[in-house]
Amino acid sequence: MARGRKKRHIPERMERCSERWFEAPLLNRGKWREACGFPAGCEIWLELGCGKGQFCTQMAPRNPDVLYIALERDSSVILAAIEKAHEQQIPNLFFINADATLLENYFDENEIDRIFINFCDPWSRRNKPKRRLTYRAFLEMYKKLMKDHGSIAFKTDNDELFDFSLEEFLACGFTLSELTRDLHSSEYDTENIRTEFEQKFADQGIPIKRVVATL
Ligand SMILES: C[S@@+](CC[C@H](N)C(=O)[O-])C[C@H]1O[C@@H](n2cnc3c(N)ncnc32)[C@H](O)[C@@H]1O
Repeated sequence: MARGRKKRHIPERMERCSERWFEAPLLNRGKWREACGFPAGCEIWLELGCGKGQFCTQMAPRNPDVLYIALERDSSVILAAIEKAHEQQIPNLFFINADATLLENYFDENEIDRIFINFCDPWSRRNKPKRRLTYRAFLEMYKKLMKDHGSIAFKTDNDELFDFSLEEFLACGFTLSELTRDLHSSEYDTENIRTEFEQKFADQGIPIKRVVATL
C-alpha cells in the first residue's frame, strides 16, 4: 500500500527536487558544465544505472570538483536517488532519467572523463548480449563520448558477465587495470564505495569482480 501510494506521487516529488535533474537533458548536450554552473575545465563523471543512488551520493561528495551525472531509466528508482541528493544538498550531483541506449542524445563527443557501471543487469550471453551495458556497441558509443584516456570502472557479482566484459573491453581497444575477482579482499577495497546491490551480494558471500578499462 505504502509503496503504491508513494509511486502515485512521483511527479510532485520530482518537482520538489527539480534543481537536481533536467526536464529536457538533451538541451545540455555538449554544455553540461555551463548548464550545471561548473567551470569549463572540470571533469564530468557519468554513472549508468545508478539505482537508488547509494554510490553516487557518496562518490560525488568525495570528489567535489567533479561534475557527477547519474543516469537511470526507472523513474521510481531514480526518484529515491534524486531525493537523497536533494536532502543531502550535494552540489555537484545531477540526474538524467533515461535509457543508456540514448546516451548520444545527451552527451557530445569527448565530453565525459569517467564512466561507472555498477552491477548492470546481466542479461543472457546467448539470447540478449546486445543489451549488456558492456556489449561492444555500447563500448564504441562510450568511446566516442569519452575524452582521450577516459576510463570505465566496472563492477559485477556475475562471473560470466565479467569474463564477457573483459573480452569486449579488449576487443574495443581498452587497456585493463585494477582487475580483481574479489574486490572486498583486495588492495582496492580501501577506496571502494559499496553500492546497494554490491552490499546484497556481499551479504550472500558472493565475491565482487571489478576492473578499470582505459582508452
Ligand atoms: C541491478 S540494478 C543496480 C543498481 C545500482 N547500480 C547498484 O549497484 O546498486 C541495475 C540498474 O540499472 C538500471 N538499468 C538497466 N539497464 C539500463 C539502461 N539501459 N539504461 C539506464 N538504466 C538501466 C536498472 O533500472 C537498475 O536500476
